[in-house]
Amino acid sequence: MNRSQAAIRVSELKSAINEHNKKYYVLNAPTISDFEYDMLLQELTTLEKKFPDLVTEDSPTQNVGSDISTESRTFRQYAHKYPMLSLGNTYSREALKEFHNRIAKTTDRDIEYVCELKFDGTAICLTYKNGKLFRALTRGDGTVGDDVTRNVERIKAIPSSLPPASSCKIPWPDEFEIRGEILMPFSSFRELNALKEEQQETPFANPRNAAAGTLKLLSADEVERRGLDCFLYHLIADIPGIETHWQAMEAALEWGFPISKHRKLCRDLDQINEFLDYWDTARTGLKVATDGVVIKINDFSLQRALGMTAKSPRWATAYKFKAQQAATKLLSVDFQVGRTGAVTPVANLQPVLLSGTTVKRASLHNADQIALHDIRLGDTVFVEKGGEIIPKVVGVDLEVRPQDTVPFHYITHCPECGTALERDPEEAKHFCPNRWGCPPQIKGRIEHFMSRKAMNILGGEALVDQLYSKGMVQDPSDLYDLTPEVLKSLDNWGDKSTDNLLKSIDASRNVPFHRFLYAIGIPYVGETTAKYLASHFGSLDNLRNAPEEVLIQAPEIGEKIAVSIIRYFREPQILKMLDKLRTAGLPFSQGTDESARLSDKLLEKQLVISGNFSRSREEMKKLIESHGGKVISAISGQTDYLLAGEKPGPAKWQKATKLNIPIINETDFLRLVGELQGEGTVFEAEEKTLF
Ligand code: IVH
Repeated sequence: MNRSQAAIRVSELKSAINEHNKKYYVLNAPTISDFEYDMLLQELTTLEKKFPDLVTEDSPTQNVGSDISTESRTFRQYAHKYPMLSLGNTYSREALKEFHNRIAKTTDRDIEYVCELKFDGTAICLTYKNGKLFRALTRGDGTVGDDVTRNVERIKAIPSSLPPASSCKIPWPDEFEIRGEILMPFSSFRELNALKEEQQETPFANPRNAAAGTLKLLSADEVERRGLDCFLYHLIADIPGIETHWQAMEAALEWGFPISKHRKLCRDLDQINEFLDYWDTARTGLKVATDGVVIKINDFSLQRALGMTAKSPRWATAYKFKAQQAATKLLSVDFQVGRTGAVTPVANLQPVLLSGTTVKRASLHNADQIALHDIRLGDTVFVEKGGEIIPKVVGVDLEVRPQDTVPFHYITHCPECGTALERDPEEAKHFCPNRWGCPPQIKGRIEHFMSRKAMNILGGEALVDQLYSKGMVQDPSDLYDLTPEVLKSLDNWGDKSTDNLLKSIDASRNVPFHRFLYAIGIPYVGETTAKYLASHFGSLDNLRNAPEEVLIQAPEIGEKIAVSIIRYFREPQILKMLDKLRTAGLPFSQGTDESARLSDKLLEKQLVISGNFSRSREEMKKLIESHGGKVISAISGQTDYLLAGEKPGPAKWQKATKLNIPIINETDFLRLVGELQGEGTVFEAEEKTLF
C-alpha cells in the first residue's frame, strides 16, 4: 500500500471507529462485536506506524472513546484529577511475551505482575473524603467525566462510608481516588431485559450496555432497582507502607471496597499463561461479564518509571478472550408470539457445541437485526453466548454463503392467528394486535396471572394449554370456576394434583393487593410499578377512576404507563373479567397493615441494626417497618444495609464489610427514608463545574 492509498484507508478507519465509539459509549448500542472493533483499531494503528505523518491528534488511536453525551447535558461534569486512561490490548500470547520483553529490557530486577480479571462494564472513578463517598465520575472522554454520584450512592457494593480509620491496619488517607468497573450481573440483566420485553421496549444487547445505560439514568430509584454491582481495581493514593498494587488492593479490601478475589501474583510468563488458561473457561461460571485478563506491574516504583503513552499506561496491558462463538447452519426460523403480542424470531440451527452445551436454537432479535446482518436461510451463522439464557446469532460467514440464497423475508401476518402484524415505528418489534383472539396471547395472560410472583397458582404451560383448548378457561377469572369434577377430566391429572391446584387457587385470594395488580397484566405495569400503584392508590377502584393527570402525579409513573392504565380499563373484556374476579373474592384493595405504611422506600429490604441511636431501638425498628423494611438480627448475604449508630458491634461491622453490605449511619438512613431533607447537597459546595 502506498502513502496515498494508506491516507484514504486511514480516513475511512477513523470515521468508522469514531462512529462505533459513539454507538458503544454514548448510545450503549454497539452494532459490531468488540473483536471486530479491535481489529479496525489494530489496522489503523499498524497503518499509522507505517506512515507516522498520517497520525493526527484527533485519531482514535490517540484518544479514549467518550461516554459524554453531547446531545443532553443532564449531568454536571468535572475534570478528572488524573486522566482516565485506556489499556493496550491483545488477543495473542505472543504479544504478551513482547510486552514482558519490553519491560524486562528496562530493568535488572525480577518483575512481579498482578493478573486480574478484566471486568466488562463501565468505568467509574470514586473520590472519598474523610471516609465518605464524595463524588463518582464516569470516564467521560478521559479528561472530564459525568457526575453520577447520586446514582452510585444507590449501588449496594459501593460503601458510602468507610470503617473508622483507627480500626484499619493501614488507615485510609483523608482524600483518595479509587477506580473500577460498574457491572450488571447476568441475573439482573436477564431480569431487566425480560421486563423490557414485557414492556415492549428494546432490550439491551449485553450487560455492559445495560450497566452503562443504567448509570446514566435520571432516576436513582430505578438505578437501585436494577441491581448494579461493582469491582474496584485501581487505588490512586500516596500511602506510606503501600508500595505495590497488591498491597493497595489488600488495604482497599480492608476498608470495605469490593475488590475481586480472583487475582494472582505472577513472577513469569508461565504463571501468567496459567491464569489465562484457567479463566478462559472458568469465567463462564462468574455472575458478572468479563472479557479478558489485565496484567499489571505490581511494583509502584517500576510503574512510575515506565510511565504512560497518551492513551494508556506502559505498565499494564489487557489480554482479551475471544467471545465463545460457534459457526453453524441456519435451517429455519420460528416466530414466537408472547403474551403482549410481541413477535420474536428464533433460529433453528444445525446442533453445535458451544462452551459445553449443544445449541439448537438461538435468538435473532427482530427484523432489523436480520436485515442488518443480511441473515439468510441456509447461511452459516455465528452464534454467541451472551448474558441471556438462549444464545444469539451475531453474524454471517459470507465467504461460505451458498449460491442460491435469497434475502430473508420477514413475516407480515401472525403465525398463530393470521392477523396482519403491526409495528410501532419507534419499536424494533412487530406485534399481533389481535389481543382477544390470538391463542398464545390469551394463554400467556393466564400463565402470567398464575405465575409465582403474581398469584402463585400451581400449574404451568401444559395445564394452561389443556384448560384453554378444552374451553374451560378463557381468561384468568375462569380459574375460580374450576371444580374437582372438571379437573379430573383432564389428561394425566390425578386427585392429588386436583387437590393441590384448587388449594393454590383458593390461597390466591389472600395475596397482597400489589401482587393482584401485577397479575391482571396491565401493559407496562411490572412488579415494581404495581407496588407503587398499590400503595399510592390503595384500591383498584381508585386506580381505575384516576384521570391521567392524577396518575402522572403518582411516584414513578410516567405518561406511557398512565396512558396504558387508562386504555386497559376501557376494554370491555377486561371489565368483565374484573367483575368476575371481584365476585370471586380477590383483593381489590390493600389490607390494613399495607395501607398503614408511610412509604415503600425500604420495601423488601432487610436491615441489621447495631450501636446507639438518637431514638430508641424500638423506635428505629418501627421506623424501618413503617417504610416497608424488615429488621433482622444477623448479617448474611441477604442483608441490604447495616444501620450503624454510635459504637457499632465490631463483629457486625467486619461481617458487613466482608460481604460488601452497605453500612449507613443514622443520618444516611433518615435521608434514605425521606425523614431528613437537604443533607444531600453537602457534597456540592466547593468545586467549580467545567460547563
Ligand atoms: S486497570 C490505567 N484493571 O478496561 C488503566 N482496568 O480497556 C487502569 N477494566 O479503562 C485500568 N477490568 O475500564 C484495569 N482489572 C482491571 C480492569 C480494567 C476492566 C477496564 C477499565 C479500562 C478498560 C481498558
